Amino acid sequence: MKKQLIALAVAALMTGAASAAQTGVLANFHSAMGGCAVCHGTDKVVPNAIPDDEYALNKSCTNCHGSYDKLANKSKKIDPHGSHLGNVNCTSCHTAHVKPKLVCNDCHTFPNKMPFADAPEAKKWDDGIDAEAVLKAEAAAPRETADVVVIGAGSTGMNAAISAKRAGANVLLLEKHVFSGGNSMLAAGGYNAVGTKQQKAKGIKDTPEAYVEDTMKGGRFKNDRELVKILAEESASGVEWLESMGADLSEVKRSGGARVDRTHRPTGGKSVGPHIVDVLRAQSEKDGVAPRLNSRVVKILTDDNHRIAGVIVHGKHTGYYKVAAKAVVLATGGYGMNQDMIAVYRPTFKGMTSSNNVTSTGDGIKMALNIGASMTDIDWVQAHPTVGKDSRILISETVRGVGAIMVNTDGARFINELTTRDRASDAILKQPSRSAWLVFDSQLYSKAKMVRGYDHLGMLKKADTVEDLAKLTGMKADVLAKTVSDYNRFRSAGKDEAFGRADMPLSVEKAPFYAVMVAPGIHHTMGGVAINTMSQVLDIQSRPIPGLYAAGEVTGGVHGFNRLGGNAVADTVVFGRRAGEHAAAFALGK
Ligand code: FUM
Repeated sequence: MKKQLIALAVAALMTGAASAAQTGVLANFHSAMGGCAVCHGTDKVVPNAIPDDEYALNKSCTNCHGSYDKLANKSKKIDPHGSHLGNVNCTSCHTAHVKPKLVCNDCHTFPNKMPFADAPEAKKWDDGIDAEAVLKAEAAAPRETADVVVIGAGSTGMNAAISAKRAGANVLLLEKHVFSGGNSMLAAGGYNAVGTKQQKAKGIKDTPEAYVEDTMKGGRFKNDRELVKILAEESASGVEWLESMGADLSEVKRSGGARVDRTHRPTGGKSVGPHIVDVLRAQSEKDGVAPRLNSRVVKILTDDNHRIAGVIVHGKHTGYYKVAAKAVVLATGGYGMNQDMIAVYRPTFKGMTSSNNVTSTGDGIKMALNIGASMTDIDWVQAHPTVGKDSRILISETVRGVGAIMVNTDGARFINELTTRDRASDAILKQPSRSAWLVFDSQLYSKAKMVRGYDHLGMLKKADTVEDLAKLTGMKADVLAKTVSDYNRFRSAGKDEAFGRADMPLSVEKAPFYAVMVAPGIHHTMGGVAINTMSQVLDIQSRPIPGLYAAGEVTGGVHGFNRLGGNAVADTVVFGRRAGEHAAAFALGK
């Protein structure tokens, strides 16, 4: 039947028989196949009655067209259906009644042309907040009631929602974006954990105390030690929790600032974020807490006793409404993509590129401030040293961890590649070009899968000799050749005489040779709402705001002044779970 419908529509398009219906939008093209029911399941479509999450519409798309796996055209250089966004709604890009949007281009600059690209421009539903509509929704009866509302469906939010649901609470998980995953789905490096079976199998000697000390040192000892202890002590059970849902975190590697290998990630050096987000998406659906997409929380409500009373939501299709709730978990992420907040809190980074998802706009911080939450280290913003120059694509620390060296535009090393991010970024910004090259060889290319992704995106320079690589990149051939031969000698001797790099897993000697140009970009906002060890948000007198919990990048305190690579994913899982459990216990009066 579906094949017949598609054939009918294609035939209609080719003969011009459907021309009356073809006014340039996807919906009209589809209605030529049998009216609104083709997508909506009914011809009596009531305006504004479409659920904000659009899952039902998406089912209609996949029923006819099949899954992304089936659609992905492997022979095409860039096929968005095979992207790292994973299993997201088709309607994320293929908006039926207005101009479609290639969401990949929130970070990339692909030239792909979307079908129906000339459709009329969409009116943005979430531009600004209608204060009058908020007041009206506040005065009205709640449209829904939940024990726990979780705001934001990245890794933190999905972990919190699953935990709260499993603890017996009735949970509503709200996400403002067109797909779930937040900033977590861009996490490349891995998940820092101590005491896992993976570490044991590799004979890695590590302790929670060592994890705590590395994290404190990386954070310039400004972290809240009690929170860091929890991060370390619950890191391994977080890995097991994800594995119980089907995650693969079998590889263990080193990240900057760590004394041992403790960064866990999928086999073959695949990026961790898209993988765990896919696992959590599937689990949240199984557990009955799939995120409600296109649903932006605009206000947190408190009662006369300053206890949490619920939230006001702005739904894409359903407008402003109130949800009554006993507890709220903020899992809204940081503010790395909010240039106004960057201008206020870290003016020296204003205008700097960012590796963050477009969702990182500091909403949770603003809403929490409005109800009297206090902030910790709010002005500490991390620039990741290696974002692809003039791009928003993170070149993961894994590339250095697996063995790349970093050189300046002459071809000379200038820092221990595995130092902490703040130091590495400062060192790059002190170079006249404010940029650097990562240089590696074919050994690394075959070990770290993500590098193939950068190649695919055309970011790598490649040559058969070190001298040719220098020519291709404008480095000085004699300088680069000496840098490489010195480094290989240091590696063989087991001592980096130039910069004291402790871990040199690979030489740079097997052709072809590669280079990728990098520069610092805003990556993580370390500060945020102040929490205690139960993930309760504190007010300006350091008292918990009853019913308000927070976890992940929206909070401050875990990472101090500088976060170590691999600690963000750990934070999302450990504190996401914790916030969900405590919020559920509070809401259920336990
Ligand atoms: O470089 C990276 O892979 C980033 C990891 C992280 O921020 O934890």
